[in-house]
Amino acid sequence: SRREQGGSEVTAAEHSVFEGAFWRDPYPAYERLRAQAPVREVALPRGGTTWLITRYDDVRAAFTDPRLVKDHRATLPPEVREQAPRLPGPFGSMMILLDPPDHTRLRRLVARAFTPRRTAELRPRIEALAAALLDALPVDEPVDLLATYAVPLPMAVICELLGVPDTDRDAFGPWSRALVDDHDDVDEQQATAGLAQYLHALVESKRRAPDGALLSALVEVSEAGDQLSTEEVVAMGVLLLIAGHETTANLIGNAVLGVATDAALRERLLAGPEQVPAAVEEFLRWDGPVHNAPLRFAAEDVEYSGTTIPAGSVVTLSVGAANRDPDRFDRPELLDPDRDTGGHLAFGHGLHYCLGAPLARLEGEVALRSLLDRFPGLRLAVPPQDLAHRRSVIVHGLEQLPVVLGPRPG
Ligand code: HEM
Repeated sequence: SRREQGGSEVTAAEHSVFEGAFWRDPYPAYERLRAQAPVREVALPRGGTTWLITRYDDVRAAFTDPRLVKDHRATLPPEVREQAPRLPGPFGSMMILLDPPDHTRLRRLVARAFTPRRTAELRPRIEALAAALLDALPVDEPVDLLATYAVPLPMAVICELLGVPDTDRDAFGPWSRALVDDHDDVDEQQATAGLAQYLHALVESKRRAPDGALLSALVEVSEAGDQLSTEEVVAMGVLLLIAGHETTANLIGNAVLGVATDAALRERLLAGPEQVPAAVEEFLRWDGPVHNAPLRFAAEDVEYSGTTIPAGSVVTLSVGAANRDPDRFDRPELLDPDRDTGGHLAFGHGLHYCLGAPLARLEGEVALRSLLDRFPGLRLAVPPQDLAHRRSVIVHGLEQLPVVLGPRPG
């Protein structure tokens, strides 16, 4: 087995990190691993193992390590590697699963749509969407702010950017969740098939009736030459839809939970709304919605913190653990909007650095500001310990966020 090759002794307790209390609060486990086993092979909830890297310096270096690749064929014995299908499944041509040069070509095609300047132009539209969602909420009874605000806001934004009709939005939410969560009972294959079928139909409709939105523009690129295949347009659509809302929704959810349970922080942001962007940045460091980057594979033996990860291993860069490394951030467990958050890894680092980082920051800021502005007295509707968290190695977020918004002031 791979473990015997690596010669690592994994005790049963440490081998299973992703279970139990971890889903609610992964940080004690990360602290223990960082201190005692900063490079450790652990079991994945849906089978197999991954090498988890948890120290800030290691994680940052690993993000730009050319020996850690996205091509899954690195896990196969060299003699069968070339014959193996290059891409796993219908979304194998998602750029987040690819290395250069394919990654470079695909990323260049969409990068222009997500620059900080293009993103900033969206502010009034995002504010209007946030206001419309908040207008519709009941004021004096418990409401799940995740389902009614934190999810629909980024969902509406990415759908408008891509050109996904309003009426379709409810359809792919459950599929998207099925692919992100690590429950045993979700049918990943059905979700994949559903999404693939939906996006294929949508791409065909853009061919017949272009609308000037991003998906339509990608269809035009694909018709203009061999730059982009239909498969690649479909995969890009799925990637942007999932990455564009699953993550930001939990940034908003985790941040609202933060202000609902930290009176001093809430008072501060109410008194100085211009501090919201700094608070959002600190929320990204302190409890970012992505705590582990999607998988990478060791193309050869690699060593970090004195431990050798054998060639062919699955590797996970724990940005959640890195962002709480006391060697990088002073008293990392404190949520402190005054701290210098520079260099946090919530959006990754290197070639795959989050394409949507400017958009996510803007959405987080607008969501938090609009909410506090209207409902300065909002409070949790249940004790914090009753909140349920998602079971996902990649996403750290809540299942529901029941709050009472309280009467509007004035
Ligand atoms: C990549 C985090 C929001 C689109 C990534 C990566 C991280 C990340 C850590 C790197 C993955 C890796 O290295 O394997 C986040 C967080 C978000 C967020 C924490 C919200 C707070 C968004 C949004 C979009 C988006 C709103 C929509 C456009 C992408 C894409 C990639 C990516 C397309 C792949 C980039 C590539 O492979 O070159 N994100 N993301 N993300 N993100 Fe985000």
